[in-house]
Amino acid sequence: MLPNFSKLAIATDTKLFEFLARSKGGKNKKCEEHLSENKESSGDINCAIDGYLMFKELKQQQTKDSKLDGDIKTQKNYIGKYIKIEVGDQKVEFQPLGPSGSSDNNKSDRFTNFQNQNLEWTKKTFPIVCRRSPKGRPAVSIEWNEYGEELTSFTDWYFLDKDGHRGHLFVQLFYDDKRKDEYEMPSNGYMKSRYLYVALVCAGGENAAGYGKFLMRVVEELGKKLECNGILLSTLSNSAGFYYSLGYRFVNKAGGVIDASDWVSVEEKDGKKRFLLDLVGDGVEKIAPKKRDRDDEERDASFISRLLKSANKMLKSMSSPLSLNEV
Ligand SMILES: CC(C)(COP(=O)(O)OP(=O)(O)OC[C@H]1O[C@@H](n2cnc3c(N)ncnc32)[C@H](O)[C@@H]1OP(=O)(O)O)[C@@H](O)C(=O)NCCC(=O)NCCS
Repeated sequence: MLPNFSKLAIATDTKLFEFLARSKGGKNKKCEEHLSENKESSGDINCAIDGYLMFKELKQQQTKDSKLDGDIKTQKNYIGKYIKIEVGDQKVEFQPLGPSGSSDNNKSDRFTNFQNQNLEWTKKTFPIVCRRSPKGRPAVSIEWNEYGEELTSFTDWYFLDKDGHRGHLFVQLFYDDKRKDEYEMPSNGYMKSRYLYVALVCAGGENAAGYGKFLMRVVEELGKKLECNGILLSTLSNSAGFYYSLGYRFVNKAGGVIDASDWVSVEEKDGKKRFLLDLVGDGVEKIAPKKRDRDDEERDASFISRLLKSANKMLKSMSSPLSLNEV
């Protein structure tokens, strides 16, 4: 289960996300419907909370020299090790968060260690870089106290911009099916091979213009270094346009692409094409109504039977000779 990011889901009453929910594009495997921000679904899972899957394939252009030492195919070896990469003229060092384990003891150790080493960051910088002030809406942020323990429990590596305080990255490597199953992550189609998962990216605060984009370049370079087939992430509704502009596309849990082109328009500027994602539009095509399944039939049948029972009870109390029967 991922941290609850629902507070960041800003423009959620949109047809695009309803369409994605119905197209099995939700991160949560039980995702059925997209509800408004902060709404807990009564029965089915609100997909807006865990977000929607987006994937970008990586084109490997690696030279032998840039590979990590050892057996890269059994990538488990690199979990727990420092990784240095270069993006443009900037050097970025990823810190390991210790070997993954699922026992509660280990979970709380990871959290405590991380917090002790990065106290200043968790207290002061985290809420600033993870904060958004969308037009006409109050600012919202991910709270470290609420999400820190969950996040550190599965992160393999992290990068904090300690020099500039402009943002951070938390990533997890999926190197085999066992690990994908353990974390209920997709393992087919585009996600059949090894991939890097962006558990959290935040960019903001002073001098952070363009830093979100830089961090995504960093993730992609790391993915290439770890010989990943691609980058997977789970987007909240407010950041989907950002990822789309960088070439990420919506995918379903089976690893196929979801065609969201009805919500995409092309803009040409200085001979360059830009693809804009319309988060609030209806799309060109009408959304197909949700296909009714056996669960729906059973739910309706039980509702009708309860309705009839209470109507009959009422008629009885009125000593009416009438009685209602199910058809
Ligand atoms: C998500 C986040 C990392 C994005 O970084 P950012 O620097 O704020 O990115 P911006 O929103 O300024 O957008 C950057 C690019 O995305 C593009 N973009 C934004 N919305 C778009 C849309 N609907 N369609 C197409 N492109 C879009 C912008 O045009 C811009 O590209 P340009 O510079 O070529 O014009 C940052 O907003 C953040 O940390 N948010 C808070 C935490 C969060 O939501 N994290 C993500 C959890 S899934």
